[in-house]
Amino acid sequence: MSIAIVEAVFGLQNKIIVAGIGPGGEDYITPAALKKIRAAKFLVGGRRALEQFSAAEQLTCPVTRDLDAPINFIHENLQRGEVVVMVSGDPGYYSLLDLLRKNFPPASIEVVPSISAMQLAFAKLALPWHDATLLSFHGRQPAREALKFSAGKVLGLLTDAEFNSATIARLLIDECGWDKNSIVTICARLSYPDEKISAMTLAAAAQAEPVKNCVLIVQETL
Ligand SMILES: C[S@@+](CC[C@H](N)C(=O)[O-])C[C@H]1O[C@@H](n2cnc3c(N)ncnc32)[C@H](O)[C@@H]1O
Repeated sequence: MSIAIVEAVFGLQNKIIVAGIGPGGEDYITPAALKKIRAAKFLVGGRRALEQFSAAEQLTCPVTRDLDAPINFIHENLQRGEVVVMVSGDPGYYSLLDLLRKNFPPASIEVVPSISAMQLAFAKLALPWHDATLLSFHGRQPAREALKFSAGKVLGLLTDAEFNSATIARLLIDECGWDKNSIVTICARLSYPDEKISAMTLAAAAQAEPVKNCVLIVQETL
């Protein structure tokens, strides 16, 4: 019997390790994720993550717009060892994990969590997030219904370049029933030395310079 068949039959095949790296700064990556990344022979990740974490002896594959490349890299190398895939924040929250589950059996995937940007944003405001409505505008659009104002509602929103602090503030006022004096806290570059957290009214955010790829927390009042 070949090794591949023995592995398939007895379930000994190597795992794809999906390791969160936190929002950016090394304080918010878990030791468990860092240990997996350091031990990897085969490492996949965005260019910035590879610059930050990869070592010379590791065989690496950057994640770019061509998402076939990391999938092929994993297929090619998984027989030779574990492949570690680095994703920003926590893997369970809007990451490459969805794509990996579509291309590989979930039993072959191990997830190692880290801190999500959403989690850190709420922590920065000392605000519990168990009752918050968490939605993403990153490359997608949440249903308007979910964004609708109701008394006491707290929104936590991921953003992107197009749906940024200004466009989302406008949308909440114009289409979702939020008062223009409700407060949005813009959490940008969380955990980096140039982290910036600023609170203002939705009306002011709609007029201000757009902040992209940040977390927005929206509340009636602070
Ligand atoms: C594709 S999502 C990935 C979310 C990630 N899995 C997590 O748990 O944080 C990317 C979005 O997360 C948010 N984000 C990631 N890192 C951030 C940071 N350091 N500061 C603020 N927002 C961040 C931004 O909204 C960004 O556009």
